[in-house]
Amino acid sequence: MKYYPEKIFKRENCIGCGICAEVCPSHAIHMSNGYPVFNSSRCIGCGHCGSFCPENVFEMDPLPENPATPKQYRALLEIRRSIRSYSDILPSEEEINELISIVSQSPTGVNAQGIIVRAISGSENVSRFVDPVRKMLRILSFTGLPHIIGKITGMTAYIKSLRGGEDVIFRGAPVVLFFHVPRKNITGYTDGVIAASAVMNYAVSMGMGTLWNGVAEKIYPFVRSWHTRETRRTRLTAVLCVGYPALKPKWKAPERIYNLLQKDC
Ligand SMILES: Cc1cc2nc3c(=O)[nH]c(=O)nc-3n(C[C@H](O)[C@H](O)[C@H](O)COP(=O)(O)O)c2cc1C
Repeated sequence: MKYYPEKIFKRENCIGCGICAEVCPSHAIHMSNGYPVFNSSRCIGCGHCGSFCPENVFEMDPLPENPATPKQYRALLEIRRSIRSYSDILPSEEEINELISIVSQSPTGVNAQGIIVRAISGSENVSRFVDPVRKMLRILSFTGLPHIIGKITGMTAYIKSLRGGEDVIFRGAPVVLFFHVPRKNITGYTDGVIAASAVMNYAVSMGMGTLWNGVAEKIYPFVRSWHTRETRRTRLTAVLCVGYPALKPKWKAPERIYNLLQKDC
């Protein structure tokens, strides 16, 4: 439900400092006679006004007192590796709900939200998702297309294993999450990736692991049976396999190369 600051605001508690107007990202607040005036048509419901109000006039919940230190946050990212083998402990429905709940802290462009996370739970349900892909490959094999796709993408062996009955797509994951965003959201793709990244990192804090599944994401538009009515008019932006890892890494990943352009560039 959208957050409407003017509905909570109580003028008698306001000290007229103007901070709410200063921090509002959509210029939906201006000060008049020492008090804020709200323009609800501009408000994006982000809650900046309330979060920065020194008097908590907007009745917001308190923030946690001990956020992670840089060292702790870095450690969380360092122990994350993509997982491809899963322990026998299956994430419960409550654990999956808790994991997905971190999406509620994820920012979206102009605060438009609307992210839909579709969770497929249970290895059998997940592996059933592979059947139509295999069927499609079998039909297409008469055209020679899988062979050509394999050659172009360098995935000939992958396609062969898939046709041979191996689940090379989800690799026995007990849970798969599909991240959808409304097509109309201008920053939709990025919104979805940010939400999935939050889940990826939160999973580590919960002792779980994820595999970012680019193959499933790319073939999704072609596999009509994967689609569902609830995700019509949405765009798939990420697919994450989730579960408790069977193996834990012992050593750090090699450093990934990135470029930092600074100063005279
Ligand atoms: C956008 C994206 C898509 C990916 N797609 C796949 C995939 O389809 N299958 C797979 O096995 N790994 C996939 N990966 C995992 C990468 O192979 C993995 O993240 C990379 O090798 C680094 O390993 P690490 O995540 O364990 O540090 C994907 C990763 C990203 C970021």
